[in-house]
Amino acid sequence: MDELQSLEQAQAAALAALEAVNDEAALEAWRIAHLGRSAPVMLAFSRLGQAPKELRPQIGQAANRVKQALEEAFAARAQALKEAALQRSLTAERLDVTLPGRRPAQGSLHIETQTLREMYRIFGEMGFQVFRAPDVETDENNFTALNIPPYHPARDMWDTFYTTNPGVLLRTHTSPGQIRAMRQFAPQPIRVVLPGMCYRYEQASSRKDIQFTQVELLAVGYHITFGDFKGTLRDFAQRIFGESLRTRLRPSYFPFTEPSAEMDVECVICRGKGCALCKGSGWLEIMGCGMVHPTVLQNGGYDPAKFSGFAAGIGPGRVAMLRHAIEDLRAFYINDVRFLEQF
Ligand code: PHE
Repeated sequence: MDELQSLEQAQAAALAALEAVNDEAALEAWRIAHLGRSAPVMLAFSRLGQAPKELRPQIGQAANRVKQALEEAFAARAQALKEAALQRSLTAERLDVTLPGRRPAQGSLHIETQTLREMYRIFGEMGFQVFRAPDVETDENNFTALNIPPYHPARDMWDTFYTTNPGVLLRTHTSPGQIRAMRQFAPQPIRVVLPGMCYRYEQASSRKDIQFTQVELLAVGYHITFGDFKGTLRDFAQRIFGESLRTRLRPSYFPFTEPSAEMDVECVICRGKGCALCKGSGWLEIMGCGMVHPTVLQNGGYDPAKFSGFAAGIGPGRVAMLRHAIEDLRAFYINDVRFLEQF
């Protein structure tokens, strides 16, 4: 009978102690003390074998009841503590859902990307489709097929980054894309715009950089004349700059066009008076261009007796400078948000 009494006392003591338990650590200590291996109720189980045989069922049942009662009390207390903790954190970290939200910073397309898209749109309306060509090119496509044989002095027009792979270089212009487009589509007539990065080993300045985006324009077809060429480029210039900026074609030389020209647009900064940006000339060059050279047509897979065409290499950076009166090309890539945000 002593055993039964002490079990009852153990239960009463444990339940009383549980009243005082107010946090997780105390709860765990209580569990070890009252339900752990050396807790009174657990010891009662291990002593069972020594009790007189006829009392054993009674003691065993009593011990089981106590253990179950303590386990239930423990679970209830644990639940209550969890709820209390939740309540505390809800009041402490109160959220005011009526406050206005934080506006996420809205990014925008880079000014050069916007200009490129505008150019695709304008040329797209004229029937030109975008054609992609790789930045790393062969000597063959960048020079030889464009009528610039090895050791020809015209190679000096571009200061080239050569790779350690013989015959492989970083394209100095998008014109090698002309060869790729022609070889892909010949003998179908084509109209393509070829955008992409070009690389030249030269001194960077406010007007030029060692890498820059260029957009190549190429039309090959039957009966394409110098008039088509001039009209297309003038139309493009007027659509992208507005009617008020004057343009001019100036004779020039490129090995892959004949005749060759450069198109200038009136300097937006000084409006033709002459300033630092236009080096006093009043004009800014925006592209090299011309009628596709017969040899290039042939290299591309077209019969120059039947086909003719025109090509141009346009600097979208220059175009963007002119459209927004930006004086320094370097603003395009130094990533100053105060600059970028304006567009
Ligand atoms: N590829 C020439 C350059 O980068 C530009 C150009 C393209 C000229 C097409 C004529 C025709 O300088």
